[in-house]
Amino acid sequence: MIEVDGLVKAYQNLTAVDGLSFRVARGEVLGLVGPNGAGKTTTLRCLAGILPPNAGTIRIAGFDLAAEPVEARRRLAFMPDEPRLFEYLTVEDHLAFTGRLYGVGADAGARARALLDELELAGKERALPAELSRGMKQKLVVACGLLHDPEVLVFDEPLTGIDPGGIRKMKQTIVRRAAAGASVIVSSHLLPLVEEICSRVLVLSRGKAVLFGTLDEIRANAGGDASLEEIFLRVTGGS
Ligand SMILES: Nc1ncnc2c1ncn2[C@@H]1O[C@H](COP(=O)(O)OP(=O)(O)OP(=O)(O)O)[C@@H](O)[C@H]1O
Ligand SMILES: [Mg+2]
Repeated sequence: MIEVDGLVKAYQNLTAVDGLSFRVARGEVLGLVGPNGAGKTTTLRCLAGILPPNAGTIRIAGFDLAAEPVEARRRLAFMPDEPRLFEYLTVEDHLAFTGRLYGVGADAGARARALLDELELAGKERALPAELSRGMKQKLVVACGLLHDPEVLVFDEPLTGIDPGGIRKMKQTIVRRAAAGASVIVSSHLLPLVEEICSRVLVLSRGKAVLFGTLDEIRANAGGDASLEEIFLRVTGGS
């Protein structure tokens, strides 16, 4: 469960996130969409505990992120849009290190192998980040995020640089984790992807929610069977 109430985040004189409130229940995938600069990454960094909010509360799996940051962050994995890896650690070192960090028990090795298969990284165990393609780095970040089986998954642009076969697998990975009870947020500009895998959509514009609901609710509100892209352009002033 993710619970966000009245979230505000400002950079100097710019309010990037301006009073945002939403919930993501277990088993749900929330699509976070909005134009460049709408505040999506800022919101997700606040959820991950990387940026301190100026106001508002964030609860991750029932733990208040400000009051119990360690407990809250243990239950969350944040997959950022720019994969950051350790230059001198191999693929398997990254997974072993992450496993120790999160206290994954004796089955850490078996889990890591299963994730490498699931994300098509098998055969790259000994590779350093410099020897991986961009898409492979992105997949390694996801494998590390999933290793401790967190209750909350936060993906910022998860499909950047992933090939078509990998996209299909990544969608399955996301949907499977939600079906197993995780609360998932996916920020993306790929609106057909959002329509396909998300149970709810939040459209952000200038730091505020301009639409929030199930796809059916959003379409009904828009007065018909418009595509998410048409509705998005209408509410964000994109055309
Ligand atoms: N570190 C920072 N310092 C100052 N301003 C920032 C910083 N990071 C983001 N911003 C500003 O905050 C606003 C929201 O940025 P953010 O990265 O959250 O948008 P986004 O919705 O993720 O956009 P995109 O679709 O391009 O990824 C933008 O106006 C951006 O310029
Ligand atoms: Mg962003």
